Amino acid sequence: MADIWQRAMDHAVAIARKAGEVVREALCDDRKVMTKSSSVDLVTQTDQRVEQLIIQSVKEKFPTHRFIGEESVAAGEACDLTDSPTWIIDPIDGTNFVHSFPFVAVSIGFSVNNQTEFGVVYSCLEDKMFTARRGKGAFCNGEPLQVSDQEDIKQSIIATEFGSNRDPEAVDKIFSSLRSILCIPVHGVRSAGTAAINMCLVASGCVEAYYEIGIHVWDVAAGSLIVSEAGGVLMDVEGGEVDLMSRRIVAANSRTIAERIVKEIDSFSPPRDDAP
Ligand code: IPD
Repeated sequence: MADIWQRAMDHAVAIARKAGEVVREALCDDRKVMTKSSSVDLVTQTDQRVEQLIIQSVKEKFPTHRFIGEESVAAGEACDLTDSPTWIIDPIDGTNFVHSFPFVAVSIGFSVNNQTEFGVVYSCLEDKMFTARRGKGAFCNGEPLQVSDQEDIKQSIIATEFGSNRDPEAVDKIFSSLRSILCIPVHGVRSAGTAAINMCLVASGCVEAYYEIGIHVWDVAAGSLIVSEAGGVLMDVEGGEVDLMSRRIVAANSRTIAERIVKEIDSFSPPRDDAP
């Protein structure tokens, strides 16, 4: 049977590549940095330009589709995931871009009936195009991806991020989880500075798991499918099913590793992305 979303996925790959070119060019220029929810939540004109570039080009081809975009939500648009075909866009992982820290990704997830149909993460500076189509596997530049088969947490590397919440109570919990996980002990803890690339590292088998509290749906919509299609598992930080609007995620190579991490996480619940 023909894959009805293949044309949309092909478009996502093409537009992510084009967006990556804009990002690479912009890295050569001065960046005017603005702040959003706090002084460490950064945005540049390039984030806004890239999001508009993606949205406009999708609207021309798929006029009935809906959007959740990081910068559109920051500008006051709703963050509602309905059953309608919806493109979930993170135009750029912002802070890394501002500092030219060399992991910058464009992330595009596509959801229908609350199910992610495809995910595309373009790591612009590495020129790596990560893709996954539901039920059809995950790929990097066309090569199949497979999570690591390591089930011993003590032989593992775990990725996480510190996010942009500087509320001391939240920071204490983030450090408490980090301490517990580090002292299991694991081989190491890493941060690429972008949720999307951390998830692609899980899918590629370079790290056994990634967890974070505070991410947004646009950070993880595409990466989640890339992890699960590479054979990994997704879980909430307290166990149970992941909810992409909850701003909490564990993405791991296996249930064993995910459950072990869950045991160590000092959890909390940031306001949901779809909170009214
Ligand atoms: C952020 C990055 C960061 C993660 C934050 C995200 P943004 O995305 O992915 O690694 O810690 O939770 O919001 O805001 O730079 O696009």
